[in-house]
Amino acid sequence: MLKQIITAIFFSVFCLCAQAKTVSTANWQVIPLPKQVTAVDAQSFVLSKKTSIFYTDGDAKQKRNAEFLASYIKELTGIDVALTTRKTDNQIRLAVADVDGGSEAYRLNVSKKAVTIDGATHAGVFYGMQTVMKSLPIVKGEKQVLLPAVEIADAPRFAYRAFMIDCGRHFFSVDYLKKLIDIFAMHNINYFHWHLTEDQGWRIEIKKYPLLTEIGSKRTGTITAPQSGEYDSVPVSGYYTQEEAREIVRYAAERYITVIPEIDMPGHMQAALASYNDLGCTGGPYEVCRHFGVIKEVMCAGKPQTLQFAKDVINEIMDIFPSPYIHIGGDECPKERWKECERCQAKIAELGLKDIEGHSKEEQLQTWFMDEVAKQIRARGRKMIGWDEILEGTPSKDVTVIGWTSPKATVRAAKAGHPTVIAPIQHFYFSNVGLNKITGIPSIERVYNLEPYQDGLTPAEQQNVIGAEGCIWTEWVKDAKKMEWELLPRLAALCEVQWTQKEQRNLDSFLQRMLHIHDIYRLKNLNYKEDIEAAVKK
Ligand code: ACM
Ligand code: ZN
Repeated sequence: MLKQIITAIFFSVFCLCAQAKTVSTANWQVIPLPKQVTAVDAQSFVLSKKTSIFYTDGDAKQKRNAEFLASYIKELTGIDVALTTRKTDNQIRLAVADVDGGSEAYRLNVSKKAVTIDGATHAGVFYGMQTVMKSLPIVKGEKQVLLPAVEIADAPRFAYRAFMIDCGRHFFSVDYLKKLIDIFAMHNINYFHWHLTEDQGWRIEIKKYPLLTEIGSKRTGTITAPQSGEYDSVPVSGYYTQEEAREIVRYAAERYITVIPEIDMPGHMQAALASYNDLGCTGGPYEVCRHFGVIKEVMCAGKPQTLQFAKDVINEIMDIFPSPYIHIGGDECPKERWKECERCQAKIAELGLKDIEGHSKEEQLQTWFMDEVAKQIRARGRKMIGWDEILEGTPSKDVTVIGWTSPKATVRAAKAGHPTVIAPIQHFYFSNVGLNKITGIPSIERVYNLEPYQDGLTPAEQQNVIGAEGCIWTEWVKDAKKMEWELLPRLAALCEVQWTQKEQRNLDSFLQRMLHIHDIYRLKNLNYKEDIEAAVKK
């Protein structure tokens, strides 16, 4: 009898240990933190190979969502789940339903019977799936994962949640951009701002102007370090065909990300001038730039063919990119050449432009030039977006402004009544050399604690701030390793600024939750900045 009791105890302890060892548990404290997470005192959902994902028959978008979710579960837990259009027990059910909080909102309920993800749209469902994915433990060879019972109600704080990648200074392949888009998707980013043209390289095929890529996409070398005066002779080249750009648009759209193309004008155009010398004030000769900075050679605003060129390019761009926003730059356009150029001065006279307080006649010439291009954009039902230097002129109020030069630029734009995006160099430029010298927690605090509703804005003016954007400029970023090091985990901090409600943002809580997103980065072999984690763990 005693032997039987001992054996029974041994087996129960063995089973308990075995169970403790094999059952890992999800954690709903994810990044970005959802609006409401209410733990429910009930049994957990058991995720195992018996689990299936339900979607409504005939709903192709939901089927794709279901496929994504199955792939996330497989990647993090190793568990294979099937897709089905029949309702059964032990299911994750995806549906579009009546959910408050705008088109990207979702409700996630977890009980023993089912996990339901109801989205206001398919995008809402997708964000619910991201929350599930980021909650999962990373396990290998375990048969079950427990999802604690919970009710989550979530919606983003801002509708515009963007990240910009400069492909002009260095070229990144279509496959790598897809990888970046996947990274954006898991951080609930919904706009990929694709900076396609620079002094150092024109990266998009324009059929009407083939020399832009034949000549403008290639440079013979690059300055070796800021102000070094020395150049290497390593050629840098590459461009995206229109077909490839469409492929990026499609890939991003499947992940509910809109691609905003940028053709930066009238400055940052030396690669275009090298291709078509006639576009400049002096007529050249020009080379595709091998150094960086603000370049004085810009498009001539006085020549009719220059404006025609800009309109033609933007028209082809709008054929490729269905984005509601079309970015036409406007930043860092020195007026030195325009001041000396007969044609630019003749245009100023023809338009009757005069220096007025705060706006020189050359700055107003730029406004005129960009507004002519914007007419083309409006005519096709799209919206012009530009960098904050466009406020040096007097753009119309429907133009969206990205405030990059400082947080104050955002205040200026929002006060002037423009839809405004906050993207200050001091906080959200992850390639900022100064920012990259900061190590440990201060380097992420710099991102995390920037409040888009800057002091000095009235509640009505705050409504003009439509969101936030991070940027990576690639003068000194040549490869994936550096790109990811600059991006991660600061993208996690940015996404919480973009998505999470202000009153819920808390740096200490974020830093603790960040550790699990690091596990996911490691699983995906992403090269994140490790000093922040080291500081948190100390
Ligand atoms: C910019 O950083 N020149 C927009
Ligand atoms: Zn000119």
